[in-house]
Amino acid sequence: MSTASITLNDTHTPIPKETGVPILGCLPEFAKSPLSFFKRLTNDYEDVVEFHLPLIDMALVVDADIAHKILVSEAKNFRKADRDVKIMGTILGNGLVTNNDTPSHKVHRKLVQPGFHFRRMEAYTKTMSDYTEQYIANWEGGTVRSISDDMFKLTMYIVTKTLFDTDMDSMENEADQIGETMKVVQDMINKRFLQIIPMPDWVPSPGNLKLSKARKTLHQTIDQIIQSRMKPNGEIDDNGDMMSMLLLAEYEDGSKMSPKQVMDELITLFVAGHETTSNALSWAFYLLAKHPEIQTKLQTELDAVLKGKTAEFSNLSDLIYTEMVIKESMRLLPPVWTLNTRQANEDTIIGDYLFPQDKVIFISPFANHTNPKYFPNPEKFDPERFSAENEKSIPKHVYIPFGTGPRVCIGQAFAMMEAKLILASIVQCFEISLAKGQELNPQAQITLSNKDGMNVYIKRRQFYT
Ligand code: HEM
Repeated sequence: MSTASITLNDTHTPIPKETGVPILGCLPEFAKSPLSFFKRLTNDYEDVVEFHLPLIDMALVVDADIAHKILVSEAKNFRKADRDVKIMGTILGNGLVTNNDTPSHKVHRKLVQPGFHFRRMEAYTKTMSDYTEQYIANWEGGTVRSISDDMFKLTMYIVTKTLFDTDMDSMENEADQIGETMKVVQDMINKRFLQIIPMPDWVPSPGNLKLSKARKTLHQTIDQIIQSRMKPNGEIDDNGDMMSMLLLAEYEDGSKMSPKQVMDELITLFVAGHETTSNALSWAFYLLAKHPEIQTKLQTELDAVLKGKTAEFSNLSDLIYTEMVIKESMRLLPPVWTLNTRQANEDTIIGDYLFPQDKVIFISPFANHTNPKYFPNPEKFDPERFSAENEKSIPKHVYIPFGTGPRVCIGQAFAMMEAKLILASIVQCFEISLAKGQELNPQAQITLSNKDGMNVYIKRRQFYT
């Protein structure tokens, strides 16, 4: 397979095309269920397929090696698609997710990276363990809980503490305000993603006004926290949180990030790290509730490793089956069901296919992970796929819940630790089943969640042996 910028003499295989119905193209099928649409395309095409939506031509990359080239080996020829960056940029500014300037992205990634250094992570895991213990202390067995709301709150308290050092107790106001505002912001970004032509910012529509108010509140709240951290002489208190680290970080010439850049990076970390982890956990609870035999196996590990205590940093390496459960959950129901779309910087040939520079390219963890070519019996929830031995036989480049290449998730280790500690601590104490009437209704927006949340019935376990 060759990879090169196109020249006049190049030959290439045309990308097969789904035209859909007149005028609307594939919109009706896409809008009805993006997941089913991608699944069908994955079944019907081998490598890549183009599909038409009103005013936009898009492509779904089905073959994991072609996707890998776009994301990794030829990443320099591709950027995040202008449409995605524009929609997300209204909220995230120019933080890591939306920074589309390769040299600037590299510099800022290097500045943010130490926040995820192993030694810092150990401190974050203490927050994760303590907050989980505190959060579930008053849970009563024999009740129905919205586990999606619980995970939304718990992961929000944890991310707010690690980013801003705001305590869960004293958070009632500040963190709840940040959380509420973030919810508005996330809802609005989600809505815009589904609009073929997003409403321009300047139109005073109810949605835009709501978004603008939320953005202002968010900026003011974070700005107040930043100001409170600055001493009168301009020095910064290092509280061990990410905000201190970013305020103290220096570019190579010794200068510091502007307060606006720090704000953008913090909002980005919050948005990128919150809903994703919360949804990953909700899906894991759902799948465990549907598979009692797997839940029992998990509890056997938890009883042996934790012996009734809350899971903490020192337990992480022994929570082997817990990790397999989480990996398999993120295979079947990946919180980031499709990566940010990509766009070639100039017409580019990958493999035998020409990707014109205006084509919006989807690469979807969901499509990869449920492709029978890569995962036999893909609908089956089977954590054994991720045992040390079996994991080796998963074809390269296909399992990408955290993306890959230079834009791979910076919070991957953080998220895995958080998910393991929370899941382990809760499943050790409670048996989880689905609440009456609870149905699976995946909603594919920026992240994948269950429409109207996820209710479970919890029963306190009697014995830890
Ligand atoms: C289960 C939880 C998570 C999942 C599934 C997830 C998934 C992803 C994926 C797929 C990407 C790549 C997007 C693309 O290439 O288009 C990404 C990027 C990113 N994630 Fe995560 N993420 C999770 C948790 C977190 C956490 C906890 C943080 C931070 C606290 C975080 C921060 C980021 C950032 C900043 C980026 C952009 C990186 C860059 O472009 O340099 N994520 N995430």
